[in-house]
Amino acid sequence: MDDKFYLTTPLYYVNAAPHIGHSYTNIAADCLARFMRLKGKEVYFLTGTDEHGQKIFRVAQEEGLSPREFVDKIAPRFVNLWGRLSISYNDFIRTTEERHKKTVQYVLQILYEKGDIYLAEYQGWYCTPCETFWTATQLTSAICPDCKRPLEELREKNYFFRLEKYRSWLIRFIENHVDFIKPLTRRNEILKFLESPLTDLCISRPKTRLEWGIPIPFNADYVTYVWFDALVNYISAVGFGQDEGKFKKFWPADVHIVGKDILRQHTIYWPIILHALGIEPPKTVFAHGWWMMGEGKMSKSRGNIVDPEEVVSNYGADAYRYFLLREIPFGLDGNFSESALINRINSDLANDLGNLYFRTFGMLEKYFSGKIPEVSSPHKVFKEKLARLPQELVEAMENLNFQEMLISIWELVKLTNKFIEDSHPWELAKAKKNTELASFMYNLMEILRIVTISIFPFMPNSAQKFWQQQGQEKKLEEVTFSELSQWGLSSPGTKIEKSEPLFPRIA
Ligand code: ME8
Ligand code: MG
Repeated sequence: MDDKFYLTTPLYYVNAAPHIGHSYTNIAADCLARFMRLKGKEVYFLTGTDEHGQKIFRVAQEEGLSPREFVDKIAPRFVNLWGRLSISYNDFIRTTEERHKKTVQYVLQILYEKGDIYLAEYQGWYCTPCETFWTATQLTSAICPDCKRPLEELREKNYFFRLEKYRSWLIRFIENHVDFIKPLTRRNEILKFLESPLTDLCISRPKTRLEWGIPIPFNADYVTYVWFDALVNYISAVGFGQDEGKFKKFWPADVHIVGKDILRQHTIYWPIILHALGIEPPKTVFAHGWWMMGEGKMSKSRGNIVDPEEVVSNYGADAYRYFLLREIPFGLDGNFSESALINRINSDLANDLGNLYFRTFGMLEKYFSGKIPEVSSPHKVFKEKLARLPQELVEAMENLNFQEMLISIWELVKLTNKFIEDSHPWELAKAKKNTELASFMYNLMEILRIVTISIFPFMPNSAQKFWQQQGQEKKLEEVTFSELSQWGLSSPGTKIEKSEPLFPRIA
């Protein structure tokens, strides 16, 4: 078994502050990274910012700043937000960093010498907000087919990267690697798209038109097209051409998590660039759906965004993380609404989860002065679910099905709340049935231990607090996945720390 796990998020454009959409991808990636660490993998979790290109150049100009000043102002806002959301990335790459520029130039030089990059006269249409070229055959009017904004006409000499040359290779590759594009609907979409010839990719901009980019190594009059530049980050961060040991260790990436808006770049351009370089493509590209506001996709350029900082200030990072991963299946679109968030907090977090901990701690205080009683075996109501839980989590995570994982964990939470109600602990106490009461409480403490480990990838801060309240000595980060299948790891005699409910109801 491979013991490394390399996962990435897109590099976000720094033309504006991050919104919920960006935080969604990073929260999902963080949950996966934490789960893989729990499974004992050496995780390399990469995120970062995409800082070159026309779009950023223009916004900087509008603000009266140099592009450098502008990107240096915005990039920290992403870093700060990831801090607030407990995103446990191992590396944050900015495309303006030296290590990245060097790799992009190295890659361009190889492809140029190989004959996969050529100079040609270009005539076509450009969408600046999407940083995308369109040819006349793809258009019915001078409007961007994707974002519906006006296109700009261009005629100039540029460098092109051969895509069409590799189309039949790519089709075969996708057909032979069922896991390369997920979910399946996206894979079918790309295979369909590949039935028609590909237009070679224009990968340069003349400096006379745009200076804000990585210089083309074989012609000083040009800079690199921002998409070509940005994709290369996935190999520059792990040392391609610079640190072969690191590169060998982590490449191929296990999963690139992206939104479905950038599926083609990641499943057509990117594997072809890699193949042309003689490098294996990533194992999986997973394209998730969009958070919408009413009818439209939430996006900076549409101006209909929700500020994640604000949501987190009001409801807390963990509740926000939980909501995003629980509310819609990963892969599909969903509508963001504050009332849906409040409903989830009240029902799943306050009523189910929070209540389970609060009652359990309360009863342990009351009946055993807050000390964990002697070990006793799992009650029959839990046996079947406990046996299923680890496998359910692993299987759902293989498909990045975060929602299903949470449903599986909540099945245990609900089962336990019902167990408490059915056991009538107050009657046991009254009848002085101490052995039964002790067994009942030990069961609850073990379930709390198992639930805490299971929710750790989703709600790291709450899990840490619960863990501490349970008086667990081992660091939660050091717990292994196998401990989910063990029973009896809560130490008798340990004193718990009762506190206020972590998820109070929102009125
Ligand atoms: O495309 N719902 O950057 P970007 C869900 N720089 N996810 C969303 C979203 C929404 N409404 N809006 C954005 C770029 N996202 C390039 C990427 S990669 C080498 C270069 C998320 O700032 C989603 O992950 O436009 C989407 O793919 C990404 O942000 C686009 O971010
Ligand atoms: Mg975008």
